Amino acid sequence: MKICHLEPLAKLGMIMKEKLEELYKEFESQVSLLKNQADVLNLKAEYLGKKGSITETLKFLKKATVEEKKVIGPMANSIKEKVQKQVNQKLVEIEKKEIDQKLEKNKLDISFRDSLKESVLLHGGLHPVTLIQQEIEDIFLSMGFEVLDGPHIEDEFHNFEALNIPGDHPARDMQDTFWFHDKETPEGKRHLLRTHTSTIQVRGMSTRKPPFRFIAPGKVFRCERTDASHEMVFHQLEGMMVGKDISVSNLIYFMKTLLREIFRKDVEVRLRPGFFPFVEPGFELDMKCLICNGKGCSVCKQTGWVEVLPCGMIHPNVLKAGNIDPEEHNGFAFGLGLDRLVMMRYGIEDIRHLHSGDLRFTSQFKSY
Ligand code: PHE
Repeated sequence: MKICHLEPLAKLGMIMKEKLEELYKEFESQVSLLKNQADVLNLKAEYLGKKGSITETLKFLKKATVEEKKVIGPMANSIKEKVQKQVNQKLVEIEKKEIDQKLEKNKLDISFRDSLKESVLLHGGLHPVTLIQQEIEDIFLSMGFEVLDGPHIEDEFHNFEALNIPGDHPARDMQDTFWFHDKETPEGKRHLLRTHTSTIQVRGMSTRKPPFRFIAPGKVFRCERTDASHEMVFHQLEGMMVGKDISVSNLIYFMKTLLREIFRKDVEVRLRPGFFPFVEPGFELDMKCLICNGKGCSVCKQTGWVEVLPCGMIHPNVLKAGNIDPEEHNGFAFGLGLDRLVMMRYGIEDIRHLHSGDLRFTSQFKSY
């Protein structure tokens, strides 16, 4: 439509207004048909570009009166904005459509999952010993202890000598040991399956400077005759704290906190003298039987107390073997039978269930 020369100037405002409205309608109907972004951008150029029809129309504004400018100016701006808005919307719409199409094309058929449902439900869980070990690790980590690990195959030095149990010491007989047939091995270097996790304590001591505190959980091996309460492979969690002026009350505090967290209630404890070559004094720590509340039952063998952990103040010779000066530092150590704790917590009457591999037993402990 030619508007320029034919119409008198007084009518220019009206004509421009109509023209702009017409152009906008035309743009609207065209843009709705477009299917790709390049076409949308081209259309935008046709209207708003340097030589675009809206731009061209607006050039006549120069010839309009001030009054006309006041009306046409804002209107033209709003039409330009509307065009730009529609262009943006259309671009987004097309992009979304393209993504949807791509997704549709690459769609994965996951309906087969239904047929896997059965096997998903049958996935394994953690062993009750592992569960209780993780729980105790968390308790000690929250009290500032490190968690250390060590080898199952040990040498005589780490398993016995560094723990104040020399070759001729009768205490060696307390731990029935699996020895390896080492040929021509120097004294202290014979190999064995570790009989307790105190070996990790020896390694931990010699690689740290006091003060420190850590626990050492793991499997241990003894040549036991198996019965309801003895296994050849079982689990211990030992720990120690070394620093200045550590006392038996510190030991009792940590042990009580540990038992309270495990059994989720306050437990009463008592110390009895106990002999272990690597502690002096040494104790057996008993807790009041939670089954009968101290009255006496089959679990506590009618005594009202259950023996839970051996412990004591670390022997000066053991500190020396760990490169620690016993004149300056001292500490406590303790050992915990994890299998025994699992049995107490779940009321298991025979330790042999734990490693039977019998799914009827292990599947009762879900960890997920
Ligand atoms: N290592 C000892 C054992 O296996 C347990 C223990 C650890 C005792 C620490 C006292 C202190 O029998």
